[in-house]
Amino acid sequence: MPGGRDRARARVPATSANLGPGFDALGIALSLYAWIEMAPAEETTIRYVGDPMPNLPADKTNLLYVIARRVYEEAGAPMPELEIAFRGDIPLARGLGSSAAAIVGALGAANALLGEPLPREELFRIATEIEGHPDNVGPATFGGIVSAVWDGRRASHIRLDPPPALTTLVAIPAYELSTSKARAALPEAYSRADAVYNLSRAALLTAALATGRLDALKDAMQDKLHQPYRAPLVPGLDRVLRETVDRGALGAALSGAGPTAIALVDESSPRKNELETFLREAMGGPDGAGVELLWLPPSVEGLVLVPATEPMNGGGGAR
Ligand code: HSE
Repeated sequence: MPGGRDRARARVPATSANLGPGFDALGIALSLYAWIEMAPAEETTIRYVGDPMPNLPADKTNLLYVIARRVYEEAGAPMPELEIAFRGDIPLARGLGSSAAAIVGALGAANALLGEPLPREELFRIATEIEGHPDNVGPATFGGIVSAVWDGRRASHIRLDPPPALTTLVAIPAYELSTSKARAALPEAYSRADAVYNLSRAALLTAALATGRLDALKDAMQDKLHQPYRAPLVPGLDRVLRETVDRGALGAALSGAGPTAIALVDESSPRKNELETFLREAMGGPDGAGVELLWLPPSVEGLVLVPATEPMNGGGGAR
């Protein structure tokens, strides 16, 4: 295809969805990355760079290959055999968008091989269809903060630049929690009072992030739709939601479907050590050993095509 390439490498950021009240609607890109590289080959192979991931298929049933085939179909191009390489620094099944990053990266790399026939909006639509909700794949595609809706066929979104003073501290437990299990814990229906509670806070949160009113995050990040029901699956979460603001954060939430907790923090806060100590203690069990803490500034970049010569580590999307 015109403008196509022999080899394409995509870099995609981690994401934190929901941010409290924005269940299935709002997410932020974070400066931790996954890379997906694709090149036409004699025979299809999938290689994991860094940690081996033996539980994932290495043949054409692999999700990365299946997604690439979708792009070729949409573009009306014959599907080649592909040599695929994947490296992920985003921990799996922790609520940091590892599957969204893999989906968006595979779409981006395959599209690049073909000379980018599909616009980013279309990649976002396909990614949302695969993932089922837009709140991780939105910021994974566009970077920054993304507010999005999905009606089952069409996805629309608005991207915001993260407020310059905003950074995040994530507390990642050692155990995994699948999104399906965390979604199964939710009720089928909610009261009008709970619906109003959340939609008013999600609206306030979006306005606060759009205008840099970080002082409003404390109230704006409260939620009654998912966190109370997921708290029994995530030891320490109740305490994190109650106390993190008193320990120096602007607001706190379960990251995506969990089990990671995320604190939104003023970059210039003098209380970062206090916050670290608190989150380690609250989420890491008695000796604090069961949790990894990472400071992750927002990533302003989403899906980016990087030179295949660039090492698959680090990143460059953080501001
Ligand atoms: N909004 C989703 C959830 C994000 O909370 O279940 C997980 O990908």
